[in-house]
Amino acid sequence: GPSELERAFDAAVAAEERIEPRDWMPDAYRATLVRQIAQHAHSEIIGMQPEANWITRAPSLRRKAILIAKVQDEAGHGLYLYSAAETLGVSRDELLDKLHAGRQRYSSIFNYPTLTWADVGAIGWLVDGAAITNQVPLCRCSYGPYARAMVRICKEESFHQRQGYELLLALSHGTEAQHAMAQDAVDRWWWPSLMMFGPPDDRSAHSAQSMAWKIKRHSNDELRQRFVDICVPQAASLGLTLPDPDLRWNEQRGHHDFGAIDWDEFSQVLKGNGPCNEQRIDQRRRAHDDGAWVREAASAHAVKRRARATE
Ligand code: 3HC
Repeated sequence: GPSELERAFDAAVAAEERIEPRDWMPDAYRATLVRQIAQHAHSEIIGMQPEANWITRAPSLRRKAILIAKVQDEAGHGLYLYSAAETLGVSRDELLDKLHAGRQRYSSIFNYPTLTWADVGAIGWLVDGAAITNQVPLCRCSYGPYARAMVRICKEESFHQRQGYELLLALSHGTEAQHAMAQDAVDRWWWPSLMMFGPPDDRSAHSAQSMAWKIKRHSNDELRQRFVDICVPQAASLGLTLPDPDLRWNEQRGHHDFGAIDWDEFSQVLKGNGPCNEQRIDQRRRAHDDGAWVREAASAHAVKRRARATE
Protein backbone atom coordinates (compact mmCIF):
# COMPACT_ATOMS: atom_id res chain seq x y z
CA GLY A 1 0.00 0.00 0.00
CA PRO A 2 1.02 3.66 -0.06
CA SER A 3 3.95 4.58 2.14
CA GLU A 4 3.64 6.80 5.18
CA LEU A 5 5.22 9.59 3.10
CA GLU A 6 2.66 9.17 0.32
CA ARG A 7 -0.20 9.22 2.82
CA ALA A 8 1.16 12.43 4.35
CA PHE A 9 1.48 14.01 0.89
CA ASP A 10 -2.07 13.02 -0.10
CA ALA A 11 -3.42 14.33 3.25
CA ALA A 12 -1.63 17.67 2.76
CA VAL A 13 -3.06 18.09 -0.76
CA ALA A 14 -6.54 17.09 0.44
CA ALA A 15 -6.26 19.64 3.27
CA GLU A 16 -5.42 22.39 0.74
CA GLU A 17 -1.94 22.73 2.25
CA ARG A 18 0.96 23.97 0.13
CA ILE A 19 3.64 21.44 -0.89
CA GLU A 20 7.05 23.09 -0.45
CA PRO A 21 10.41 22.24 -2.09
CA ARG A 22 11.74 20.26 0.90
CA ASP A 23 8.54 18.20 1.33
CA TRP A 24 8.45 14.63 0.03
CA MET A 25 6.47 14.41 -3.21
CA PRO A 26 5.74 11.63 -5.73
CA ASP A 27 8.25 11.64 -8.63
CA ALA A 28 5.34 12.03 -11.06
CA TYR A 29 4.10 15.14 -9.20
CA ARG A 30 7.59 16.64 -9.45
CA ALA A 31 7.89 15.67 -13.12
CA THR A 32 4.57 17.20 -14.20
CA LEU A 33 5.35 20.41 -12.31
CA VAL A 34 8.77 20.65 -14.00
CA ARG A 35 7.05 20.04 -17.35
CA GLN A 36 4.32 22.66 -16.82
CA ILE A 37 6.41 25.35 -15.07
CA ALA A 38 9.27 25.02 -17.59
CA GLN A 39 6.86 25.29 -20.53
CA HIS A 40 5.16 28.24 -18.86
CA ALA A 41 8.56 29.94 -18.48
CA HIS A 42 9.51 29.14 -22.09
CA SER A 43 6.18 30.68 -23.19
CA GLU A 44 7.02 33.95 -21.43
CA ILE A 45 10.47 34.13 -23.02
CA ILE A 46 9.36 33.20 -26.55
CA GLY A 47 6.31 35.45 -26.08
CA MET A 48 8.60 38.50 -26.08
CA GLN A 49 9.41 38.00 -29.78
CA PRO A 50 6.02 38.73 -31.43
CA GLU A 51 5.64 42.01 -29.51
CA ALA A 52 9.31 43.03 -29.76
CA ASN A 53 8.72 43.13 -33.51
CA TRP A 54 6.73 46.37 -32.94
CA ILE A 55 8.86 48.15 -30.31
CA THR A 56 10.87 50.03 -32.96
CA ARG A 57 7.72 50.79 -34.96
CA ALA A 58 5.28 51.86 -32.26
CA PRO A 59 3.16 54.84 -33.42
CA SER A 60 4.04 57.08 -30.46
CA LEU A 61 6.57 57.39 -27.65
CA ARG A 62 3.80 56.58 -25.14
CA ARG A 63 2.92 53.34 -26.93
CA LYS A 64 6.61 52.46 -27.28
CA ALA A 65 7.17 52.97 -23.54
CA ILE A 66 4.15 50.82 -22.64
CA LEU A 67 5.25 48.03 -25.01
CA ILE A 68 8.84 48.04 -23.71
CA ALA A 69 7.52 47.79 -20.14
CA LYS A 70 5.31 44.86 -21.10
CA VAL A 71 8.06 42.94 -22.89
CA GLN A 72 10.39 43.51 -19.93
CA ASP A 73 7.64 42.14 -17.63
CA GLU A 74 7.46 38.98 -19.76
CA ALA A 75 11.22 38.45 -19.32
CA GLY A 76 10.73 38.86 -15.56
CA HIS A 77 7.84 36.37 -15.56
CA GLY A 78 10.17 33.90 -17.28
CA LEU A 79 12.78 34.40 -14.55
CA TYR A 80 10.21 33.92 -11.73
CA LEU A 81 9.07 30.71 -13.37
CA TYR A 82 12.55 29.30 -14.13
CA SER A 83 13.37 29.99 -10.46
CA ALA A 84 10.21 28.14 -9.38
CA ALA A 85 11.22 25.21 -11.62
CA GLU A 86 14.74 25.19 -10.09
CA THR A 87 13.20 24.51 -6.64
CA LEU A 88 12.25 21.09 -8.09
CA GLY A 89 15.88 20.17 -8.71
CA VAL A 90 16.33 21.10 -12.38
CA SER A 91 18.70 23.77 -13.70
CA ARG A 92 17.68 26.62 -15.98
CA ASP A 93 20.40 25.56 -18.40
CA GLU A 94 18.97 22.09 -18.91
CA LEU A 95 15.45 23.52 -19.38
CA LEU A 96 16.72 25.95 -22.03
CA ASP A 97 18.67 23.13 -23.71
CA LYS A 98 15.40 21.16 -23.93
CA LEU A 99 13.56 24.16 -25.37
CA HIS A 100 16.28 24.71 -27.99
CA ALA A 101 16.28 21.00 -28.85
CA GLY A 102 12.46 21.00 -29.25
CA ARG A 103 12.07 18.61 -26.31
CA GLN A 104 10.03 21.06 -24.25
CA ARG A 105 7.16 23.20 -25.50
CA TYR A 106 6.05 26.79 -25.31
CA SER A 107 2.52 28.10 -25.82
CA SER A 108 1.14 27.55 -29.34
CA ILE A 109 -0.10 31.14 -29.45
CA PHE A 110 3.38 32.56 -30.04
CA ASN A 111 3.77 30.76 -33.35
CA TYR A 112 1.54 33.32 -35.08
CA PRO A 113 2.93 36.47 -36.73
CA THR A 114 2.27 40.05 -35.62
CA LEU A 115 1.35 41.59 -38.99
CA THR A 116 0.10 45.05 -37.93
CA TRP A 117 0.28 47.40 -34.94
CA ALA A 118 -3.26 46.32 -33.97
CA ASP A 119 -1.84 42.84 -33.24
CA VAL A 120 -0.13 44.35 -30.17
CA GLY A 121 -3.61 45.32 -28.91
CA ALA A 122 -5.13 41.94 -29.79
CA ILE A 123 -2.29 40.16 -27.97
CA GLY A 124 -2.77 42.31 -24.85
CA TRP A 125 -6.55 41.96 -24.81
CA LEU A 126 -6.90 38.32 -25.92
CA VAL A 127 -3.59 36.51 -25.24
CA ASP A 128 -2.89 38.20 -21.90
CA GLY A 129 -6.60 38.01 -21.12
CA ALA A 130 -6.53 34.23 -21.70
CA ALA A 131 -3.31 33.97 -19.71
CA ILE A 132 -5.01 35.73 -16.76
CA THR A 133 -8.03 33.39 -16.95
CA ASN A 134 -5.61 30.47 -16.86
CA GLN A 135 -3.23 31.92 -14.27
CA VAL A 136 -5.64 33.16 -11.57
CA PRO A 137 -6.59 29.59 -10.56
CA LEU A 138 -2.88 28.68 -10.62
CA CYS A 139 -2.42 31.08 -7.67
CA ARG A 140 -4.12 28.27 -5.69
CA CYS A 141 -1.87 25.53 -7.08
CA SER A 142 -0.76 22.97 -4.47
CA TYR A 143 2.95 23.63 -5.16
CA GLY A 144 3.99 26.69 -3.13
CA PRO A 145 6.71 28.29 -5.31
CA TYR A 146 4.53 28.08 -8.46
CA ALA A 147 1.45 29.52 -6.71
CA ARG A 148 3.47 32.41 -5.26
CA ALA A 149 5.06 33.18 -8.65
CA MET A 150 1.55 33.31 -10.11
CA VAL A 151 0.36 35.90 -7.59
CA ARG A 152 3.08 38.33 -8.72
CA ILE A 153 2.60 37.55 -12.40
CA CYS A 154 -1.20 38.04 -12.29
CA LYS A 155 -0.76 41.55 -10.88
CA GLU A 156 1.42 42.58 -13.84
CA GLU A 157 -0.70 40.64 -16.35
CA SER A 158 -3.77 42.81 -15.63
CA PHE A 159 -1.80 45.90 -16.78
CA HIS A 160 -0.90 43.95 -19.97
CA GLN A 161 -4.53 43.15 -20.65
CA ARG A 162 -5.78 46.70 -19.96
CA GLN A 163 -3.22 48.36 -22.24
CA GLY A 164 -4.15 45.98 -25.06
CA TYR A 165 -7.86 46.65 -24.59
CA GLU A 166 -7.27 50.42 -24.53
CA LEU A 167 -5.07 50.24 -27.66
CA LEU A 168 -7.86 48.43 -29.56
CA LEU A 169 -10.47 50.88 -28.26
CA ALA A 170 -8.46 53.79 -29.69
CA LEU A 171 -8.14 52.08 -33.08
CA SER A 172 -11.73 50.85 -33.17
CA HIS A 173 -13.04 54.39 -32.63
CA GLY A 174 -10.41 55.87 -34.97
CA THR A 175 -10.50 56.17 -38.76
CA GLU A 176 -12.15 53.56 -41.01
CA ALA A 177 -8.71 52.11 -41.76
CA GLN A 178 -7.81 51.92 -38.05
CA HIS A 179 -11.11 50.19 -37.23
CA ALA A 180 -10.51 47.70 -40.05
CA MET A 181 -6.96 47.03 -38.78
CA ALA A 182 -8.29 46.32 -35.26
CA GLN A 183 -11.01 44.01 -36.62
CA ASP A 184 -8.49 42.15 -38.80
CA ALA A 185 -6.22 41.55 -35.78
CA VAL A 186 -9.12 40.21 -33.67
CA ASP A 187 -10.14 37.96 -36.58
CA ARG A 188 -6.64 36.46 -36.68
CA TRP A 189 -6.01 36.13 -32.88
CA TRP A 190 -9.41 34.94 -31.59
CA TRP A 191 -9.28 31.21 -32.41
CA PRO A 192 -5.57 30.72 -31.56
CA SER A 193 -6.31 32.39 -28.19
CA LEU A 194 -8.99 29.75 -27.46
CA MET A 195 -6.41 27.06 -28.25
CA MET A 196 -4.14 28.43 -25.46
CA PHE A 197 -6.32 26.62 -22.91
CA GLY A 198 -5.23 23.24 -24.29
CA PRO A 199 -7.02 20.38 -26.03
CA PRO A 200 -10.63 19.46 -25.19
CA ASP A 201 -11.03 17.76 -21.81
CA ASP A 202 -11.67 14.36 -23.41
CA ARG A 203 -8.30 14.64 -25.19
CA SER A 204 -6.25 16.10 -22.34
CA ALA A 205 -3.52 13.67 -21.28
CA HIS A 206 -2.70 15.37 -17.99
CA SER A 207 -5.87 17.04 -16.72
CA ALA A 208 -7.26 14.25 -14.54
CA GLN A 209 -4.01 13.74 -12.63
CA SER A 210 -3.20 17.48 -12.48
CA MET A 211 -6.64 18.14 -11.04
CA ALA A 212 -6.27 15.32 -8.49
CA TRP A 213 -3.02 16.94 -7.36
CA LYS A 214 -4.70 20.38 -7.31
CA ILE A 215 -2.21 21.75 -9.82
CA LYS A 216 -5.02 22.35 -12.31
CA ARG A 217 -8.09 23.74 -10.53
CA HIS A 218 -10.41 23.86 -13.55
CA SER A 219 -10.44 21.83 -16.74
CA ASN A 220 -9.25 23.21 -20.10
CA ASP A 221 -12.82 23.49 -21.42
CA GLU A 222 -14.10 25.17 -18.22
CA LEU A 223 -11.47 27.93 -18.43
CA ARG A 224 -11.96 28.29 -22.19
CA GLN A 225 -15.71 28.78 -21.61
CA ARG A 226 -15.00 31.30 -18.83
CA PHE A 227 -12.74 33.25 -21.22
CA VAL A 228 -15.35 33.29 -24.01
CA ASP A 229 -17.99 34.55 -21.55
CA ILE A 230 -15.63 37.36 -20.47
CA CYS A 231 -14.73 38.41 -24.04
CA VAL A 232 -18.19 38.68 -25.58
CA PRO A 233 -19.26 41.84 -23.68
CA GLN A 234 -15.76 43.30 -24.00
CA ALA A 235 -15.84 42.88 -27.80
CA ALA A 236 -19.22 44.64 -27.82
CA SER A 237 -17.86 47.62 -25.91
CA LEU A 238 -14.83 47.69 -28.22
CA GLY A 239 -17.20 47.89 -31.18
CA LEU A 240 -15.48 44.85 -32.71
CA THR A 241 -17.00 41.48 -33.66
CA LEU A 242 -15.63 38.05 -32.72
CA PRO A 243 -15.09 35.87 -35.83
CA ASP A 244 -17.50 33.09 -34.83
CA PRO A 245 -20.98 32.93 -36.46
CA ASP A 246 -22.03 30.23 -33.94
CA LEU A 247 -21.32 32.46 -30.92
CA ARG A 248 -24.56 33.06 -28.98
CA TRP A 249 -25.83 33.24 -25.38
CA ASN A 250 -27.42 29.98 -24.17
CA GLU A 251 -29.90 30.79 -21.39
CA GLN A 252 -30.17 27.15 -20.31
CA ARG A 253 -26.41 26.78 -19.89
CA GLY A 254 -25.84 30.29 -18.58
CA HIS A 255 -22.87 30.46 -20.96
CA HIS A 256 -22.15 31.39 -24.57
CA ASP A 257 -22.23 28.57 -27.13
CA PHE A 258 -19.40 28.91 -29.64
CA GLY A 259 -18.22 27.28 -32.84
CA ALA A 260 -15.88 24.33 -33.36
CA ILE A 261 -12.16 24.90 -32.84
CA ASP A 262 -9.80 23.68 -35.57
CA TRP A 263 -7.87 21.06 -33.52
CA ASP A 264 -6.00 19.97 -36.66
CA GLU A 265 -4.47 23.45 -36.79
CA PHE A 266 -3.63 23.14 -33.06
CA SER A 267 -1.87 19.79 -33.50
CA GLN A 268 0.00 21.08 -36.57
CA VAL A 269 1.28 24.04 -34.53
CA LEU A 270 2.31 21.70 -31.69
CA LYS A 271 4.16 19.53 -34.22
CA GLY A 272 6.18 22.60 -35.23
CA ASN A 273 4.31 23.41 -38.43
CA GLY A 274 2.80 26.73 -37.34
CA PRO A 275 3.51 29.98 -39.25
CA CYS A 276 6.43 31.06 -37.02
CA ASN A 277 7.71 27.97 -35.15
CA GLU A 278 11.07 27.82 -36.93
CA GLN A 279 11.65 31.58 -36.75
CA ARG A 280 10.88 31.66 -33.00
CA ILE A 281 13.24 28.82 -32.11
CA ASP A 282 16.01 30.09 -34.44
CA GLN A 283 15.80 33.55 -32.86
CA ARG A 284 15.80 31.99 -29.36
CA ARG A 285 18.91 29.89 -30.13
CA ARG A 286 20.66 32.92 -31.64
CA ALA A 287 19.84 35.05 -28.57
CA HIS A 288 21.18 32.26 -26.33
CA ASP A 289 24.44 31.99 -28.32
CA ASP A 290 24.86 35.79 -28.51
CA GLY A 291 24.42 35.92 -24.73
CA ALA A 292 27.06 33.23 -23.98
CA TRP A 293 29.75 35.86 -23.25
CA VAL A 294 27.52 37.42 -20.57
CA ARG A 295 27.05 34.04 -18.87
CA GLU A 296 30.80 33.32 -19.08
CA ALA A 297 31.68 36.76 -17.67
CA ALA A 298 29.16 36.37 -14.85
CA SER A 299 30.48 32.95 -13.83
CA ALA A 300 34.15 34.09 -14.09
CA HIS A 301 33.25 37.04 -11.85
CA ALA A 302 31.53 34.69 -9.38
CA VAL A 303 34.66 32.47 -9.25
CA LYS A 304 36.89 35.51 -8.50
CA ARG A 305 34.50 36.74 -5.80
CA ARG A 306 34.45 33.32 -4.15
CA ALA A 307 38.28 33.18 -4.30
CA ARG A 308 38.54 36.66 -2.72
CA ALA A 309 36.05 35.69 -0.01
CA THR A 310 38.23 32.75 1.03
CA GLU A 311 41.55 34.69 0.95
N1 3HC B 1 0.52 25.24 -26.49
C1 3HC B 1 1.46 24.25 -26.49
N2 3HC B 1 1.28 23.04 -25.91
C2 3HC B 1 0.08 22.82 -25.33
C3 3HC B 1 -0.94 23.79 -25.28
C4 3HC B 1 -0.68 25.04 -25.91
N3 3HC B 1 -1.58 26.01 -25.93
N4 3HC B 1 -2.00 23.27 -24.61
C5 3HC B 1 -1.65 22.02 -24.27
N5 3HC B 1 -0.40 21.74 -24.70
C6 3HC B 1 0.30 20.47 -24.57
C7 3HC B 1 0.61 20.12 -23.13
O1 3HC B 1 1.85 20.70 -22.74
C8 3HC B 1 0.70 18.60 -23.23
O2 3HC B 1 1.89 18.24 -23.88
P1 3HC B 1 3.19 17.72 -23.06
O3 3HC B 1 2.75 16.46 -22.34
O4 3HC B 1 4.23 17.49 -24.11
O5 3HC B 1 3.53 18.82 -22.10
C9 3HC B 1 -0.41 18.26 -24.23
O6 3HC B 1 -0.59 19.44 -25.03
C10 3HC B 1 -1.72 17.82 -23.60
O7 3HC B 1 -2.33 18.93 -22.99
P2 3HC B 1 -2.92 18.81 -21.48
O8 3HC B 1 -4.14 19.65 -21.37
O9 3HC B 1 -3.06 17.37 -21.11
O10 3HC B 1 -1.67 19.43 -20.69
P3 3HC B 1 -1.72 20.31 -19.34
O11 3HC B 1 -2.48 19.61 -18.25
O12 3HC B 1 -0.31 20.69 -19.10
O13 3HC B 1 -2.60 21.62 -19.74
C11 3HC B 1 -2.07 23.95 -20.04
C12 3HC B 1 -2.09 22.54 -20.68
C13 3HC B 1 -3.52 24.37 -19.73
C14 3HC B 1 -1.42 24.93 -21.00
C15 3HC B 1 -1.28 23.85 -18.72
O14 3HC B 1 -0.02 23.32 -18.99
C16 3HC B 1 -1.10 25.21 -18.05
O15 3HC B 1 -2.00 25.71 -17.42
N6 3HC B 1 0.14 25.78 -18.17
C17 3HC B 1 0.45 27.01 -17.48
C18 3HC B 1 -0.03 28.17 -18.30
C19 3HC B 1 0.83 28.44 -19.50
O16 3HC B 1 1.72 27.71 -19.84
N7 3HC B 1 0.51 29.53 -20.15
C20 3HC B 1 1.23 29.96 -21.30
C21 3HC B 1 0.34 30.99 -21.94
S1 3HC B 1 1.17 32.35 -22.52
C22 3HC B 1 1.83 33.17 -21.21
O17 3HC B 1 1.76 32.76 -20.07
C23 3HC B 1 2.47 34.46 -21.48
C24 3HC B 1 1.49 35.56 -21.12
O18 3HC B 1 2.21 36.51 -20.37
C25 3HC B 1 0.97 36.19 -22.36
